[in-house]
Amino acid sequence: MDGTTQLLETDRQFLVHPLHHPDDHKAPLFIDHGRGAMLYDVGGRGVIDGLSGLWNVNIGHGRGELADAAATQMRKIGFASAYVGQTNEPSIRLGEFIVRHAYSNSSAVYFTTAGAESNESSFKFARYYWKLQDKPDKTKVISRWHAYHGVTMAAMSATGMAVYHKMFGPLVPGFIQVQPPYAYRYEGNEDPGIVAAEAVEKAILAEGPDTVAAVIAEPVMGAGGVIVPPPSYFPKLREICDRYDVLMIADEVITGFGRTGRWFALGHWGVEPDLVSFAKGVTSGYLPLGGVIASKRIHDAILSAPLDRRFMHAATYSAHPVCCAVGVVNCRILEEDGLVERAAVEGANLLANLEELRNLPNVGDVRGLGMMCGVELVTDKSTKAPAIGLGGRVAREAMARGLLIRARPGSADPAIGDTICLAPPLMTPSETLADIPRIVRESIIAATA
Ligand SMILES: Cc1ncc(COP(=O)(O)O)c(C=O)c1O
Repeated sequence: MDGTTQLLETDRQFLVHPLHHPDDHKAPLFIDHGRGAMLYDVGGRGVIDGLSGLWNVNIGHGRGELADAAATQMRKIGFASAYVGQTNEPSIRLGEFIVRHAYSNSSAVYFTTAGAESNESSFKFARYYWKLQDKPDKTKVISRWHAYHGVTMAAMSATGMAVYHKMFGPLVPGFIQVQPPYAYRYEGNEDPGIVAAEAVEKAILAEGPDTVAAVIAEPVMGAGGVIVPPPSYFPKLREICDRYDVLMIADEVITGFGRTGRWFALGHWGVEPDLVSFAKGVTSGYLPLGGVIASKRIHDAILSAPLDRRFMHAATYSAHPVCCAVGVVNCRILEEDGLVERAAVEGANLLANLEELRNLPNVGDVRGLGMMCGVELVTDKSTKAPAIGLGGRVAREAMARGLLIRARPGSADPAIGDTICLAPPLMTPSETLADIPRIVRESIIAATA
């Protein structure tokens, strides 16, 4: 048995992988290293990383500066508590950078280690805020079908994809899901953005505004199938949140740090959230880090809380100095290499080229914003009947042609076809980006032949 085969045997013996099923782990991709937008397996074969890892490697693979930043910081101090009364320089520098590059109402950062923990923290910030306002019953959270917010208990309960609930119920009480702003599958004659925002309003009224703490929304829904909202959605949602005193949490775990062509995404529609959950792109995945950006309103409440109502939320690795040191250098690269602007320009080109896939019989919709695009597959264009199972076959064909992608599995209720998700690193060379639509086309044709 060669070394690789032996290691894979050991893997099967000792590891449980995310979303595990042994049938899906018979021939895993065994990555050895990465450079830029390319991944190389242990046999030396290169593939384009069409999803930037898991939507996170915004600056691309193999940037030695991040390794140097981690090593330098580890030699100084590898871990230091950041519990109140202690601090460290990398977290201060990164916190300041993030606040200055986020929204004009952004005021302070609380660091976590991942996206789900960021959302858990945002929910707790929201509850905490309302308790400080002497509205202790404002605890519920409204989210949307097809949302993905992570898999810890509350984040899973906000997630709007039934596959993530099926074997883990019951969900946490007080999480309500409503219709998303999904133009392709909206059947009425009104503006689908307004209708979807009003679905949130109806839920607030049905639950009672005095019981609702927050609405959580990805600016562009990612894992749920790259659903880009109509321009009317977020301004209307902001209005509704203000009307009923409900906080708006932007889950920018994917959209933050340049992915959509802006540092943070709600600026596309001139909207400012009360809380932002972030992770992934803050370190481009080189080390685990996430966080919550509190707006001034929330930050002020924390600063003026009496001692006996202090913010008793914490984690050992909050503001981890090594992760934050890597985050600082990652953000510097995003800025100095102009990658946020690049995501806007190159992402628009990628989307324009993907649009040509619409002439294939199984392509129902093509959508995107910045460097995140989705190609929704249907079995019949006129009925929009979701293609279920086709996405996995397309992904396998793409892999055989040198492109790694993921497909969001479709569902009949609420309807969505398998959707090919594309989110290459923001630095992906133009020639490589130009290859992607061709490979996706060939893969869809091969998978449907
Ligand atoms: C929008 C969004 N929120 C939250 C998460 C959860 O992040 P993590 O897997 O780091 O917990 C993800 C992960 O893909 C995500 O896309």
